[in-house]
Amino acid sequence: MSKGRIFLVGFGPGAREHMSFRARQAIEAADVVIGYSTYIKLVQDLLDGKEVIKKGMTEELDRCIEAYEHARRGKTVALVSSGDIGIYGMAGPTYEVLFQSGWRPGEGIEVEVVPGTTALSACAALVGAPLTHDFCSISLSDLLTPWPVIARRLEAAARADFVIALYNPKSGRRTQQIVEASRILLRHRAPDTPVAVVKSAYRKRQSIQMTRLAQMADCEIGMLATVLVGNSQTFLRDGLMITPRGYANKYEPLTGEVKDGERAGHSLGLGLDGWKANVRDRLAQGQTPEEIARDFDLPVNEIEAVRNEESAHVA
Ligand SMILES: C[S@@+](CC[C@H](N)C(=O)[O-])C[C@H]1O[C@@H](n2cnc3c(N)ncnc32)[C@H](O)[C@@H]1O
Repeated sequence: MSKGRIFLVGFGPGAREHMSFRARQAIEAADVVIGYSTYIKLVQDLLDGKEVIKKGMTEELDRCIEAYEHARRGKTVALVSSGDIGIYGMAGPTYEVLFQSGWRPGEGIEVEVVPGTTALSACAALVGAPLTHDFCSISLSDLLTPWPVIARRLEAAARADFVIALYNPKSGRRTQQIVEASRILLRHRAPDTPVAVVKSAYRKRQSIQMTRLAQMADCEIGMLATVLVGNSQTFLRDGLMITPRGYANKYEPLTGEVKDGERAGHSLGLGLDGWKANVRDRLAQGQTPEEIARDFDLPVNEIEAVRNEESAHVA
């Protein structure tokens, strides 16, 4: 019996031109293709002559178990998912099923995760360049995650000024999570913060709504949408949502010359070393750690760490 193989395939947002070459190769090589019925439809033209197993939304673990069962019998299986299968996808649960069966990497069934373009980068590409600075993703689905965990992450991301991609923002049954999310985000972000709601990116029913944080919860949002919330620097211009990369911190906008006190190729004046020097100066001038912490919106332990570092140095 030949050795079984499982390809965990993320085929991108939907359109064929956004599927990676490797994802296509993996599906073509498979004897058995397993996936949620909507995903199977999106790769239908690659499935001739293959055993196809369609599963419903709630049968996620069944998909992993079926993949394992077929691979155990020597089949090549492609478990397919939209976007990237490792992002809110079936790659993790499949590994868990494999480990529970006693499988070890390098022994028995071969496993390959095939990465794909995830919804946040697909959606970002359609609205401009909103993810050019630090960002994070948060799923609003409370089917498997307690709401306090989600709320804490929203609060932390909003406070830390991340651009935020909200996956699973709303469904027929989960309608209030986006309202709560909006309330939490508005505690730290201006009501006119740009927001993009992208539905079915690179699929037939693609739609894009550009809005502001205060109106986000009133938008038409469903299971097939991803919501991108800008940071404090993100702007909308001519229908595009752009997050600056930070060049304006170092260079003059029109001439491109390096600003006074900065050096090309070096950390900013308020980079790690410059910031520590700044804290030491302030301490030397008599400012308290609490006052400095407030100015930088940092925990007071960060200021104390700089002070202690300095005392250790002196000692
Ligand atoms: C269970 S997650 C799967 C994510 C997927 N593995 C990925 O990497 O994109 C489902 C959520 O992904 C987002 N999503 C997936 N495909 C999308 C698309 N084509 N357009 C917009 N959002 C999408 C939506 O937020 C949806 O609720």
